[in-house]
Order: sequence, then structure tokens, then C-alpha cells
Amino acid sequence: MLREFLRRPAEIAMIWPDTSTCARRMAEQVDYAQAQVIVEWGCGTGRVTREILRRKREATLYLGFEKNPRFFRHLQRLQGPNVHFIPDDVFRTPLYLQRHGYTKADYLISTLPATLLDAQRLFALAAQIVRHRFVQYQYVTALALGRWLRPHMQRFFPQVRLCFCPWNLPPVVILVGTAVRSAPSAVRKQP
Ligand SMILES: C[S@@+](CC[C@H](N)C(=O)[O-])C[C@H]1O[C@@H](n2cnc3c(N)ncnc32)[C@H](O)[C@@H]1O
Repeated sequence: MLREFLRRPAEIAMIWPDTSTCARRMAEQVDYAQAQVIVEWGCGTGRVTREILRRKREATLYLGFEKNPRFFRHLQRLQGPNVHFIPDDVFRTPLYLQRHGYTKADYLISTLPATLLDAQRLFALAAQIVRHRFVQYQYVTALALGRWLRPHMQRFFPQVRLCFCPWNLPPVVILVGTAVRSAPSAVRKQP
């Protein structure tokens, strides 16, 4: 973990995996009875991933993006029915949704270091592909530096709820954006 962080600090952006409390809070934002497609961005060591996979129905499609090769290899242990890990950049998510016959995901859960990436581009993409909720966290340390994700998120998700999780290193604020109502589209495309 530390080795990966030292190699690519801006991309990994963590020195310690998320705690199970934080991972549960993230995963609990999904309505598993309804979800047909769940996408996760930045699975890392798989803390949040495990919580999602423990709750998801077998029939629900899960796509997990992690471009770090070591973390990607480690994630293979979590394989299951309709579970796909993708060693590619999250900006290529629409391509992988299409490969599975979808244009949108019902839920998108992200622990990407959005404050260090192009948040506008990231959230614009999230708004394009999310049907119900977009869940993104940020470390409070970024808040202290004045990098607040909420205004960026509100440009694309007018309704943003906040949830503070102090039991993480560093503590996090979880932002839950509700998608503007649009036509149902996690539904499979017509052949
Ligand atoms: C803060 S860590 C994730 C923490 C994870 N929830 C855990 O507990 O291990 C962010 C992850 O996002 C991945 N990442 C960063 N930019 C990415 C991108 N553009 N596409 C895919 N993965 C990315 C990094 O490799 C890193 O593993």
C-alpha cells in the first residue's frame, strides 16, 4: 500500500485503506433490491468493494474500475457472478457499460481522489451515466486546503446530501448526489 502510494501519490492518494465503517457507509447508499447495474470507481484494496458485493443480488451487474495493476490483481479474489473488474481508466466507463448492453448505471460509488483529478470532467461523466445516485467521498484534509467538492458536484447533481465519517484515516465527508430524473436507461438496450 505505502509502496504504491510512494510510486504514484496523486493517483493512489491513500496511505491506509478505508475502514470498514467508512466502507459500510458508502455501500449503504445503494438500494440493492432495485439496482440492476452498480459501478465502482477506484476499488483500491477492495474495502468498499467487499461491502457492495456482500449486499448485491447475483443478477445485478457490478463493474469495478481500478487501474493500478497490483490492486487489480488483488481484486481478482473477489470475483463472483456478474462481477467484473476492469484495469482501465474510469473515463472509459461508457465503453464498458455498452459492452454489457447498458448506457447507464443505477449507482456509482467512487473513492477516487477527485480533488486531485479533474473533478469537473469526472462529475460531468458521472452525471451522464448515473441513473439514481452518485456517491463520492473526500478526505477532510482536502477540505482544510480549500478543495471542497460539493460546489463541483452540485453543478451536475443539484441535490447533494452530506454524511461525515470520522472513523477513517483521514476522516471523510461522503457526498451523495441524486441524479436529475431522466428516462429509465439502466435497462438493457434493444438488440
Ligand atoms: C483512495 S484510493 C481507493 C481506496 C479504496 N476504497 C480502498 O479502501 O482501498 C483511490 C484508487 O483509485 C485508483 N484510481 C485513481 N485514478 C484512477 C482512474 N483514473 N481510473 C481508475 N482508477 C483510478 C487508484 O489506483 C487508487 O487505488
